[in-house]
Amino acid sequence: MTTDDHPWATGFRSLEEEHDYRLDEVDGQVPSWLRGTLYHNCPARNAIGGKWFAHWFDGDGMISTVRFADDGLHFRNRYVATDNYRDETRAQRVVNRGFGNARPGGVLGNAFREPANVSNTSVVVEGDRLLSLWEGGPPYAMDPATLATHGVEDFGGRVKAFSAHPKRDPDTGELFNFGIDYGAKCTLTPYRLHKGSLTALPTITLPYAVMNHDFVLTKNHLVFCIGPILQSPLSFLLGFKSFDEGLHWDGRKPTLIMLVPRNGNDKPRIIETDAFFQFHFANAYEDDGAVVIDVCRYPEYATVGEAVRNFWKSDWSAEGMAFLTRLAVDLATGKVASRTWNTDRVNEFPVINPAYVAKRHRYDYFLSNPPDQPRGLQQHLSKLDVETGTVTRHDFGPDGYPGEPYFIAAPNGAEDEGVVAVQVFDAKRQRTDVVGLDARDIAGKPLFVGRLRHHLPFCLHGTFTPRTFG
Ligand SMILES: [Fe+2]
Repeated sequence: MTTDDHPWATGFRSLEEEHDYRLDEVDGQVPSWLRGTLYHNCPARNAIGGKWFAHWFDGDGMISTVRFADDGLHFRNRYVATDNYRDETRAQRVVNRGFGNARPGGVLGNAFREPANVSNTSVVVEGDRLLSLWEGGPPYAMDPATLATHGVEDFGGRVKAFSAHPKRDPDTGELFNFGIDYGAKCTLTPYRLHKGSLTALPTITLPYAVMNHDFVLTKNHLVFCIGPILQSPLSFLLGFKSFDEGLHWDGRKPTLIMLVPRNGNDKPRIIETDAFFQFHFANAYEDDGAVVIDVCRYPEYATVGEAVRNFWKSDWSAEGMAFLTRLAVDLATGKVASRTWNTDRVNEFPVINPAYVAKRHRYDYFLSNPPDQPRGLQQHLSKLDVETGTVTRHDFGPDGYPGEPYFIAAPNGAEDEGVVAVQVFDAKRQRTDVVGLDARDIAGKPLFVGRLRHHLPFCLHGTFTPRTFG
């Protein structure tokens, strides 16, 4: 592997330094209404002692902010001060068991140890706090202005795992989430967080141990699509396999569409459909007796599982990757209709205008690659109009690699009035830009490009608040 044939690979290298500065270079114009803070979480230390981690998901979490202020754009980044980050910074080697990492000492050294919380997946603003999220454990609470880490927030010992894809109902302000516990039985507990108060909905026992990353919210339900990506709890527990090595795809089993009532009283309903896997959903809503779900659907897990494991050295082959797909679950008959949009290929990181969460939406934004591109990370940011099927694309090629987009709505605007903010790694300059696209003119010249003084390792998920803390 060379940089020439894997130009995206250097976007995974660690960023050790913590910065705090105003961007010197901003091309174009930030709209005058756009004020607030854009947060991202990324696995930012992906190697230690000169050795890459076993898996992308082992990277230590780092929160970055871009603050849109009257005097310009400000950047800040700080590592989440997890126990793992401190332990391994001191030792300058892997000392803890991870998602893919094994600690020294072989089977005995790893047996009966849970993966360390690296808090590297997402971030949410909750009241006056920032919560850094990782699906295997509880959040870390941080200061939203300084990014200082306060410590683990387990809600008085009630939360063992709090996933990295919470959904906020735009009308009620409630934040819904879930956690999976791999005990004697594999259980899923949904949570509702409202005005600082956490409610656990009834725990659901799953038929077998699975990995599940995301869910979607509708007016009445939390909707899960539990694909047959099974975990072998015993070989993991006994230290023979890492969590990642313990995962295996069993396509003979169905995907379980699980409708969990938001009211916490009624029983969940489970509908079986053909096996598929997803990391991410765009949105879902209830309409005319059906639950409609937009999802980046993979035919199976093994292919993308290998790509995320090999991250920096992966070819990121387009074969076996996801297509944006609409599922319609008929609530009367339990029948599931599926329609794949014509959205090129390698569709990932789908988002919508957050004001439309759990409601009928018209526009999906996501990353993609053109049909004739056989390999490589995504270089297009696409917008799908689900009413017309029209797709418009922004091409960041040949050196640009965008991360997850975030839709920042213009005040009192239509659904697609706003800025699609995205961090773009420039493989030629080895730096990252903060780019704002006009959501109504995705293909057009960016509204603004703020140039960071360094690269930002590829991020997972982010959030935006119109507040500017501090
Ligand atoms: Fe995710």
